[in-house]
Amino acid sequence: MSFSFEGKVAIVTGAGGGLGFAYAKYLAEHGCNVIVNDLGGGTFGVDGKPSSKVADEAAQKINALGKGKAIADGHSVSEYKSAEMMVETAIKNWGRIDIIVNNAGIASTSVFPNVDKDEVELHLGVHVMGAVNTMRAAWPHMVKQKYGRIINTASDSILGFSPQISYPSMKSALIGLTRNVGLLGKEHNINVNVILPAAFTRLSALLPESDFRDHLEQDFQPEKLAPVISYLCHEKCDITREIFSVGGGKFSRVVLASSEAVPVDMTMESVENQMANLMTENTADLFLLKTTFDDLQNLGFSEEEYKLFYDMTATQDELEDIDAIKIDSVDNVWDITVKSPVGDQFSTLVMKSESGALKGHVLNEEHGSQTIIDGKIENGDTMVWKCKLTKPVPMTLTYTMQADKDQKIQGKVVGTLMGKSVMDCAVIGKPVQGDKAETAKAESAKQAELDSQKKPGILSKLFSKA
Ligand code: NAI
Repeated sequence: MSFSFEGKVAIVTGAGGGLGFAYAKYLAEHGCNVIVNDLGGGTFGVDGKPSSKVADEAAQKINALGKGKAIADGHSVSEYKSAEMMVETAIKNWGRIDIIVNNAGIASTSVFPNVDKDEVELHLGVHVMGAVNTMRAAWPHMVKQKYGRIINTASDSILGFSPQISYPSMKSALIGLTRNVGLLGKEHNINVNVILPAAFTRLSALLPESDFRDHLEQDFQPEKLAPVISYLCHEKCDITREIFSVGGGKFSRVVLASSEAVPVDMTMESVENQMANLMTENTADLFLLKTTFDDLQNLGFSEEEYKLFYDMTATQDELEDIDAIKIDSVDNVWDITVKSPVGDQFSTLVMKSESGALKGHVLNEEHGSQTIIDGKIENGDTMVWKCKLTKPVPMTLTYTMQADKDQKIQGKVVGTLMGKSVMDCAVIGKPVQGDKAETAKAESAKQAELDSQKKPGILSKLFSKA
């Protein structure tokens, strides 16, 4: 089998029936061990008591195939604790979590403008928080494994289908969620894609009797989607942050595209003229919007400018010749100040060597102590340290430095944003003077103070395990 999932572990939510069951079964048939989640609710998410019966039966069917193993889970994805339990079950039984298919879903009834707030919240819980919860719970494991494949489930209805707005509004959120979490995943080999499925299930069976419904029933079996979803979950597939429409034995790539931005002056007449140009049916000149930067560039920001926006300038000295020494025995602390032009913030990078390891953290007055990532001392005299700044955007700073006999360090800091190098500068750091114990004490007091003022950003909130 050229596409095997032997040794891999998946969570498929809402897998008691319909599409979720088809995905879980196909993955298991290809050797994957699967947590089969389903709370056994009704199509509208409110009728019927949560029960693990549906998930149990689905898991039994999969186990009867004698391929990959299945374990049932009857919790609601709307609760973070449930997502944690699912991930824990995967880790306890199989030691890892590789794949998440966020498939659980419910239908809506309220028709705009009679929007029911409770219903909107129900949909927010199942569709949006359901996906956030499982991703959040699995994220640390996937980062550690340097591997993960995630599928979120939106819907064709986001393009304009029916005025039952709780459903398409929350499904739309999954596009933004996927494209942004996908950015974070890139450096960890965690791919995140989003699908717009079409299949005849109990959900779509709610559609009124019509030729459309008959066609769906005849040709759009849930099983037909499983190979596409499984391919996107396979390690051979490096596609991420994409949107696919899937159904009836076909699939297509759905994109966000833009026209060239056109200039207008301060008159509405100029807008009217340009609008006529923009709204033509000729789409040949549209280009793909892959990230926010593509759009910013279209509005007139130069690559240099938007680079600079997120750029950071390190305090620099003239680099002098330095005779590198073996630093595996050095035990010292260095402070380097990095200034961000955004909000005029300064961060202090504190690095400490201990034998062959390098530890450190970033102290930022506004955002407190940020991610600590260990580095290593390579070749005895070069240290490499990666540190992630979560504000204003996740940015990885990689330091490659050498220490001289006075333990001054010099080298390069390279800043990487979304896989692209946005900063490359030389720095020199002097060791913090004074008694080492005093230094360590002062450092930890400073960190404790900053920790207490810590205001985590939305991304760090979503992915912190707190
Ligand atoms: P389905 O109703 O057969 O399956 C959904 C499953 O999710 C059910 O088994 C249900 O018990 C489970 N579920 C609901 N809330 C849950 C929760 N809080 N926690 C755990 N499980 C929960 O429907 P279908 O068609 O298989 O839908 C699968 C996904 O595809 C859904 O997200 C749906 O919105 C989406 N979708 C389906 C389309 C279709 O043509 N069938 C079209 C567009 C999107």
